[in-house]
Amino acid sequence: MSERINVNGVLGPPETACVSPLDRGFLFGDSVYETIRTYGGRPFLLREHLQRLRRSAELLEIPYDRAPVDIEPEIHRTIADAGPSEKAIRVVLTRGQGPLGYDPEPCGPPTVVIHARPCPEIPASFVREGVDVAVVDVTRNPRTSLDPAIKSSNLLNNFLAWRAAQRLGAYEPILLNASERLTEGASSNLFVVRAARLLTPPPADGILEGITRGLVLELARADGLDASEESLEADSLRSADEAFLTATLKGILPIRRCDGWPIRHGRPGPITRRLMALFEARVQVETNTGSAPGSTLK
Ligand SMILES: Cc1ncc(COP(=O)(O)O)c(C=O)c1O
Repeated sequence: MSERINVNGVLGPPETACVSPLDRGFLFGDSVYETIRTYGGRPFLLREHLQRLRRSAELLEIPYDRAPVDIEPEIHRTIADAGPSEKAIRVVLTRGQGPLGYDPEPCGPPTVVIHARPCPEIPASFVREGVDVAVVDVTRNPRTSLDPAIKSSNLLNNFLAWRAAQRLGAYEPILLNASERLTEGASSNLFVVRAARLLTPPPADGILEGITRGLVLELARADGLDASEESLEADSLRSADEAFLTATLKGILPIRRCDGWPIRHGRPGPITRRLMALFEARVQVETNTGSAPGSTLK
């Protein structure tokens, strides 16, 4: 009973969950989503995730308020039904069913799918030693196309980037934009440390503003670090003093190598480790019991 799926309020095991083949989420990827995780059984930064879900829906004119169920209580109900282990929760909001064709007018109401599953473990060695990334030749979609600020379920571009990274033996791809500036990973944001400054690509360069990214910027600034959003060239990652990825299911993951080049002798640096400790402390404050991904403080 550790995996449950809730479709428009109907809650059950994955085998019984169903969505219509005429749903626009299925036909066009016409949907938005969030990935949330629990710490100590409670969804972490839930308010921020729900705000972003609403914002993504608004940017695509998917009518969030016409959803057939109230999303927040359904998330809690699904988590409770899925049993006690820590959960990864995917919340999907589609435009709903409609006739074939692009016209959104006859579509809806939206479909809400909430999927709770055991939270995937991050191997301790990834946290301790870092992961390898590769700058791939799949570019991040420009903001004038499907804006990366929208957390849409239309993820084929991210998948192509991920596949390119796999072929290069890397854990996560790093995507450049059309102007060859660093953006982010296929499912993570990117930070670099240069000359004791913490830098991350700005929204204007075409990124999803990650919830974890926002928390890391807040923690860094509160700790007195010089932390900025700055447009970065690929070389500023390869020659960084330190670098790391952030995401809900990854927490803060140090980068060990980029394109085969070791970052800081291939070991997580002091600023990365400091931010990992601050992140862990915040998780514990918010949940009393939780711990960050890969942590030994279970
Ligand atoms: C493209 C992309 N960027 C960044 C992130 C990290 O966002 P968050 O910290 O909100 O999980 C994700 C998460 O899945 C993502 O898909």
